[in-house]
Amino acid sequence: MIEIRKMELCDTRAVAKVEKTCFSNNPWSEQAFINEMNNELTVYYVAVDNGKIVGYAGFWNVSGEGDITNVAVIPEYRQQGIASKLIKKITDSARALGLSSITLEVRKSNTVAQNLYKKFGFSVVGERKRYYSDREDALLMTLLMD
Ligand SMILES: CC(C)(COP(=O)(O)OP(=O)(O)OC[C@H]1O[C@@H](n2cnc3c(N)ncnc32)[C@H](O)[C@@H]1OP(=O)(O)O)[C@@H](O)C(=O)NCCC(=O)NCCS
Repeated sequence: MIEIRKMELCDTRAVAKVEKTCFSNNPWSEQAFINEMNNELTVYYVAVDNGKIVGYAGFWNVSGEGDITNVAVIPEYRQQGIASKLIKKITDSARALGLSSITLEVRKSNTVAQNLYKKFGFSVVGERKRYYSDREDALLMTLLMD
């Protein structure tokens, strides 16, 4: 059974491991996640299978707007609806905080993640040219909250 719960400071090492497995380009360090946990503007969730962290997602609450930093699920747990559960938590939490929208950047080539976000009603609202360090473009996707 997969449990989705709030991420805590003691989870940062395991989350950094998930991050390293999921992102070959510039994965965030454990210190980066510690900083996120110590920042009161962030909201992060982890997906846990029997005590093992298999995915995470989080967003920033900036001036009443949400900004998703990342979503990741380790390969052997993909296509089981775990990222969907994480995004559902994020959208519920953003709604509860009264945020007007949630925005994110996603690599133009990452159609898997784009499909995930579209499933939750996000739409492409713009592009950021050469946004990533390897110069790939980002698509900007937004969900307006009702
Ligand atoms: C993107 C990612 C988080 C999806 O995680 P997941 O747990 O497999 O996603 P889910 O099982 O909840 O799938 C949700 C939707 O994503 C899309 N999707 C997932 N896997 C897909 C695939 N292999 N091909 C096409 N679409 C896919 C589908 O729309 C799916 O909905 P459906 O099951 O109703 O068809 C995961 O692939 C991942 O960690 N990738 C590497 C990190 C990354 O790219 N993160 C996003 C950065 S912006």
